[in-house]
Amino acid sequence: MTQKARVTLERSYTIGEVDKKIFGSFVEHLGRGIYNGIYEPTHKEADEHGFRKDVAGLVKELGVSVVRYPGGNFVSGYRWEDGIGPVELRPKRLDLAWRTLETNEVGINEFASWCKRTGAEPMLAVNLGTRGIEAALDLLEYCNHPSGTYWSDLRIKHGYQDPHDIKIWCLGNEMDGDWQVGHKTPQEYGRIAVETARAMKRFDPDIQLVSCGSSHTFMDTFPEWEAETLTHTYDVVDYISLHQYFGNEDGDTANFLARSLETEHFIKTVISVCDYVKAKKRGKKDIMLSFDEWNVWYHSKPHDDNQMKGNPWQTSPSLLEDIYTFEDALVVGCMLITFLKHADRLKIACMAQLVNVIAPILTESGGGVCRQTIFYPFLHTSMFGRGTALRPIVDSPKYDSKDYTDVPYIETVAVMNEEDEELTLFVVNRSLEDAITISCFFRGFEDYMFTEHIALENENLNAVNTLANPDAVVPHIRQGSCVSLGKGEFTIELQKTSWNVIRFKKAR
Ligand code: AHR
Repeated sequence: MTQKARVTLERSYTIGEVDKKIFGSFVEHLGRGIYNGIYEPTHKEADEHGFRKDVAGLVKELGVSVVRYPGGNFVSGYRWEDGIGPVELRPKRLDLAWRTLETNEVGINEFASWCKRTGAEPMLAVNLGTRGIEAALDLLEYCNHPSGTYWSDLRIKHGYQDPHDIKIWCLGNEMDGDWQVGHKTPQEYGRIAVETARAMKRFDPDIQLVSCGSSHTFMDTFPEWEAETLTHTYDVVDYISLHQYFGNEDGDTANFLARSLETEHFIKTVISVCDYVKAKKRGKKDIMLSFDEWNVWYHSKPHDDNQMKGNPWQTSPSLLEDIYTFEDALVVGCMLITFLKHADRLKIACMAQLVNVIAPILTESGGGVCRQTIFYPFLHTSMFGRGTALRPIVDSPKYDSKDYTDVPYIETVAVMNEEDEELTLFVVNRSLEDAITISCFFRGFEDYMFTEHIALENENLNAVNTLANPDAVVPHIRQGSCVSLGKGEFTIELQKTSWNVIRFKKAR
């Protein structure tokens, strides 16, 4: 059966400019994310710095705009000085977050240079777990001061004449979580974060700072954590962080596909708290949202617990290596659409993570590399989702699932690129059974014509891409799905459980 839905767009109903930083990612010193991930000096594809060119090629293909580093949980026990200077002199350390052995072969200089080569902006986290203001200031001076001081001259001595000029800094990571080394109460975190932020902004008032939000909406302290910590940090920070991961542990796909409704709720709640603190402070600025960890994450969990408990202190073991299914890609697509729907306040988003560790890119040590299923919705939004997000008025059939009611089968948002005179509609059809024909009414786009319909579809919700079979789930161009009725009106048929990118361009 084919169901029907209706999508109306009006050119002037804008949500906001899409910040390219929402197409960000994250690499942590964790598992094979860095070592045997982006960096593998013995690999035949390694460049002169030891980083894999084939992996960097896919990072560029994704158009990753910003990369958060070095953690994650890892940062809360990290001594950044371990990762600078001659590699052979760098100490090996126990990483208590992941119970592995850290060789420090890669540190801030290698990471920042890699970012430059891949075209991504680095986003650094400072350690507010075991360390604090002084270590953060030293790192900032080492990275950003031109010359003539202890730390900047040391960087130059290490071979990096030009400052890295890192603009975005996270004040710790998930400090509300008791798994964090140096976990803090909201009062403790608020105090250390505000004092670190003040000192960092004395060095450079133009850097942008991210205050740590809750690790997840399930935290007992959510959203009081945000209210209390922001009350301390409001004046000196620019963003608050959000983290969210989803899984389909009980195999309930209808419920799993609805999870992005929680993302929507999370974003709205955090915006409300930010605005409440702004009102309380008689403030003038809006705090922006940095959704700096998000993804599907559950496939690898039992394996990782065994690995970390039973066999600790290994160097870059395989950890968190989720192999993503087709249905995971649909959830990722829904989350990306939700981010675009909040383009006015959500200015940074980092898919966690980039390579091997819960990642869109999977490598074999000494071998090949492949695009996981979740690679594609990220790729498409990054390619076609830059511009102005438009608020669609959607009339969609709905369903109820275990945890949600009134879930619209159609999840959608549109982005208009005025410069290129293009309009793109991103749509997920959540229906497990039915194709849906959407009737589109695009006001203000009467002279636009349909150009292409890219779709990610698969009969098997559990289909995966592997190194042996990398193209099991790949997008294709759908032919004959769109009927143009003239004057900005179209009908488009979407297959059941599908990710769709429907592109339009001004006619010449
Ligand atoms: O991305 C994996 C981990 O998830 C990060 O280290 C941590 O911040 C979060 O709990």
